[in-house]
Amino acid sequence: VPKRTTVKALVESPALMSIPSNYSYTRYPNESDASDPDETLPTIDFSLLTSRDPLQRSKVIQDLNKACQDWGFFMLVNHGVPESLMKAVVDVCKEFFNLPMEEKMKFADKDIWKPIRFGTGVDVKVEKFYFWRDFIKVFVHPQFHFLNEPKGFSEVSGEYCKRTREVARELLQGISEALGLEENYIEKAMDLESGFQLFAANLYPPCPQPELAMGIPAHTDHGLLTFLIENEIGGLQIEHNGKWFHVNPLPNSFLVNTADHLQVLSNGKYKSIRHRAVVNNKDTRISIAVPHGPSLDTVVSPAPKLVESESRPAAYMPMKYKDYLNLQLDGKPCLDHIQLTFT
Ligand code: SIN
Ligand code: FE2
Repeated sequence: VPKRTTVKALVESPALMSIPSNYSYTRYPNESDASDPDETLPTIDFSLLTSRDPLQRSKVIQDLNKACQDWGFFMLVNHGVPESLMKAVVDVCKEFFNLPMEEKMKFADKDIWKPIRFGTGVDVKVEKFYFWRDFIKVFVHPQFHFLNEPKGFSEVSGEYCKRTREVARELLQGISEALGLEENYIEKAMDLESGFQLFAANLYPPCPQPELAMGIPAHTDHGLLTFLIENEIGGLQIEHNGKWFHVNPLPNSFLVNTADHLQVLSNGKYKSIRHRAVVNNKDTRISIAVPHGPSLDTVVSPAPKLVESESRPAAYMPMKYKDYLNLQLDGKPCLDHIQLTFT
C-alpha cells in the first residue's frame, strides 16, 4: 500500500494554496496549451449504422472512415444507451471516490493485473512525479469483478459496460467495413467474444495551480476503441494536426477514439491519437474511460488483406495483447516498440 496520499485528500487538507513540487509537471515544447478550435470534432450517428437502409449505412461507414482517418476521435450520438444510465454511472463513481480513504486504499496496488485497482497517477518512468488524478480500474470482461462498496456500484457499472460493449462491437463491424474488410473481420480476428474490457474512472479535484499540474500526460490508449464520458466538466485535449484541441462533447454523446491495436490492425491507416487530461481550479472533474480490446491472448497483427491490397509491407510486428500491456506497464512507448522500419 503506497504511503502517499490521494489527490482528493490533498486538496481537502486545509488551505492548500499551491501544489507540492512533486506534482509540478514540466511541459515539453510540443505540449503547449490548446488553441481555440477552428474545427469541430466529427459526429457519428450510431442509429444509421443499424439502419436497414443500405444507403444510410454506406454513408455512415464513409463518415466513420473519414473520422478515423482524419481525427482518430469522434462523438457518437443516438447510440441507444440511456441518458439515465450514463448519469447514474458518473454518480456511483463519485460515491466511490467519496468513500473513506481506508476503504479505497484496500485496493491500492501497483500491479496492473490486479482486477480491481485504486491509485493516484504516477509517472512510471521516474516514479517521483505525481499527476493530479485518483482512479479506480476494474476488469469487467470477459470476467466481471465485483465491488461491494459503494452500494450499487457494480450493478450500475456492470450494466453500463454491457451496453457500451454491445455498441462497440457494432461499431467495430462498421469499422471493419470502412477498412474494406469483411464485416466480421475484427470480431473474429480479435476474438471479441472474450474481448478484454476495462472500466476506468478518474477523479480530478480542483487544483490551485492548474497550469503547473497535469491530470494525465499525453498518451495513446491500448486496445481497439475507448469510450469516454465526463461529468460536464471539460479537460480532455487531443492532438490534431500538430496542435492540442480542447474537446467539448455534445451532451449524452460518447467520445470514442481509435486506439493502438486498431492502428496495428489497419496497418497504420487509422492512428491512435495522443490525448491528455488537464485540470482546472474550480470544479471537480470525473471522467470514465472504457477501453475495448481484443482478448488478452490474441496476437494482433496488420490485417493480411490491408497489407496486400495496398502493396505495402506490414508496419508492425505481431504481438500478443497481454504482452503489449506488460510493456506498457514498464512505461515503454509500446507502439514505437513494435513498429517496423524499412530502409
Ligand atoms: C484517459 O485518457 O484515460 C482519460 C482522459 C480524460 O480524463 O479525459
Ligand atoms: Fe486515454
